[in-house]
Amino acid sequence: MIQRTLSIIKPDAVKKNVSGKIISILEENGIKIVAIKMLTLSRKVAEGFYYVHKDKGFFNSLIDFMTSGPVVVMILEGDNVIEKYRKLMGATNPEKADAGTIRKLYATDIEKNAVHGSDAVETADFETRYFFNAFEINER
Ligand code: CMP
Repeated sequence: MIQRTLSIIKPDAVKKNVSGKIISILEENGIKIVAIKMLTLSRKVAEGFYYVHKDKGFFNSLIDFMTSGPVVVMILEGDNVIEKYRKLMGATNPEKADAGTIRKLYATDIEKNAVHGSDAVETADFETRYFFNAFEINER
């Protein structure tokens, strides 16, 4: 089934100058980018995006990190892309991520973990709409 999912290249990976390497992994695996932009998140925008984590102990630190520099936000499209992209990212904690995954290659730690990906159809729908208007999404 063709799906769309939200990807964020986080401030740590943008600072390490590996955005292109991450995008290459996606393209080499047959995933299409249908929307893309770089932006610096305000606290309000970051808090709204991660509202499901607002009661977690790491929330303030996560918001500090996500607002610490520019991010690259993308909508990815492809067959079963939600699960496929999650496999390419690897585990949230890079210490537990499989060899060759994006997080194993480029993450710093469990918080500064290089990339985000939606975890289900419903969250992908919320997250893609959170960052992109319909006219920013391209048919390919
Ligand atoms: P992400 O997939 O974007 O979803 C929530 C984010 O919170 C996660 O990636 C990490 O950046 C961060 N996170 C998750 N668990 C922890 C943790 N235990 N400590 C610090 N940050 C975390």
